[in-house]
Amino acid sequence: MNEVAIGLDLGTGGVRVIAVDLQGNVITQATRSYPLLTPHPGWTEQQPSAWVDASLAALKEVVQRLNGSPVLVLGLSGQMHGMVPLDAEGAVVRPAILWNDQRTGKAVGEIEAAVPRHDLIQRTGNPAITGFQFPKLIWLRTAEPDAFARTRHVLLPKDYLGYVLTGEQVTEPSDASGTGCLNLSDRQWDTDVLNALDIRLDLFPPVIDSRAIAGYLKPDIAATVGLPAGLPVVAGGGDNAAAAIGLGVSSARMHRGSLSIGTSGVIFAPLDRPTPDPEGRVHLFCHADGGYHLLGVTLAAGGSLRWYRDVFAPHLSYSELAEMASQVVPGSRGILFLPHLAGERTPYLDPDARGAWVNLSLAHSQADLTRALLEGVAYSLRVALEIVETITPLHTLMATGGGGRSHIWLQILSDVLKTKLTIPSVEEGAAYGAALLGMVGVNAYPNLEAVFSQMQRDAEAIESVSNPVYEKGYEQFQQLYTALRALR
Ligand code: XUL
Repeated sequence: MNEVAIGLDLGTGGVRVIAVDLQGNVITQATRSYPLLTPHPGWTEQQPSAWVDASLAALKEVVQRLNGSPVLVLGLSGQMHGMVPLDAEGAVVRPAILWNDQRTGKAVGEIEAAVPRHDLIQRTGNPAITGFQFPKLIWLRTAEPDAFARTRHVLLPKDYLGYVLTGEQVTEPSDASGTGCLNLSDRQWDTDVLNALDIRLDLFPPVIDSRAIAGYLKPDIAATVGLPAGLPVVAGGGDNAAAAIGLGVSSARMHRGSLSIGTSGVIFAPLDRPTPDPEGRVHLFCHADGGYHLLGVTLAAGGSLRWYRDVFAPHLSYSELAEMASQVVPGSRGILFLPHLAGERTPYLDPDARGAWVNLSLAHSQADLTRALLEGVAYSLRVALEIVETITPLHTLMATGGGGRSHIWLQILSDVLKTKLTIPSVEEGAAYGAALLGMVGVNAYPNLEAVFSQMQRDAEAIESVSNPVYEKGYEQFQQLYTALRALR
């Protein structure tokens, strides 16, 4: 029977567990969801116990479906940036605060008052950002001093799950760099930054390599899910880094990045050294392969299309909307769409940014509005790509996510981004990358490059066609944010 590696991705909507054989074939998978808690506007939380229950149930289902195939390793991945505070006994002090929570505006100011923004970017790769873990800890100290006083450890979501599974508290650089207090050059906690904010180093777990074994499955957990006690659990990666590993996007092969159109739109560019954007407009994190990567994020990409369909066209399918958009000429007969429906990350870091269609006339139809939306998301990603390309040029982007299934949208993206897109034949996301990291962790392969060369990845390519209409549209698009900000 084929040996398998299990990969687990602890997402925001739910957990996904997959079993992958050593040739890279997905053998089986299971998912479980859990609720998102929003106790106040702008706050997002989850109960870590819900993550654990869902993860154990999904693991158990996968193990049952494997019918006895030997499992070599479990690799972890998960939503980045969240904070799980634990007391001295390792019990959860309060619900986890998530990556998309916006409560930390004052804490961000406090951090940048203590460590000049330029310095913080050079050290940690990023300015202080509301969603990151470090501002959450500063918030906790001020807003919930009793909870802070009981807190002895803070963990990221997937690392908390790793702790429950193995009893070991560790993290790895790809996720730890999303806290906002990891020094990117030495891939260890930045004690100067911690000291400047009067935060103790021993609150944070040791940082080990993403491919290293974090610990071994505890007997009680092993018995619950049907896996062998002592199974190695590999540290893994934050969800973006792990998804990139799953696509073979590595810092050993620069200039080949990825573009994911899910709810948000993400441009991922691998780097071999920690070179931040001096203005901090795109994120810089550690990659899970020992290198680094830039990340540009448009918060509402597929999310804009979903909103549009739900509100204005609930009777139409996504493919009908795509078909409608394809009937309209490039440039949407002058309409522009600004996709800031959920605020914006790159390049503004502005939770209050808002969206718009402009230049409407009686002559315009629903098809024009639809195409303008697809083009607006593409323009927004071009803003991110142009910043990324001041640091590292990208020749090809592997396109993934739900938006990657619409041919018209992919062609618009390729043309607006002026970049060739390739569509991978296997697209299994972060859980798949976690499984591959696991394989290296237990020496089933000597290194990631050996894993990549083993994986089948026949890709369809979309060549970029330059169009002056998009150049004009992009020029106008870039002025929209500033123009609309003046109206707030
Ligand atoms: C990355 C980010 C998201 C989360 C959600 O910076 O905020 O991709 O990791 O899963």
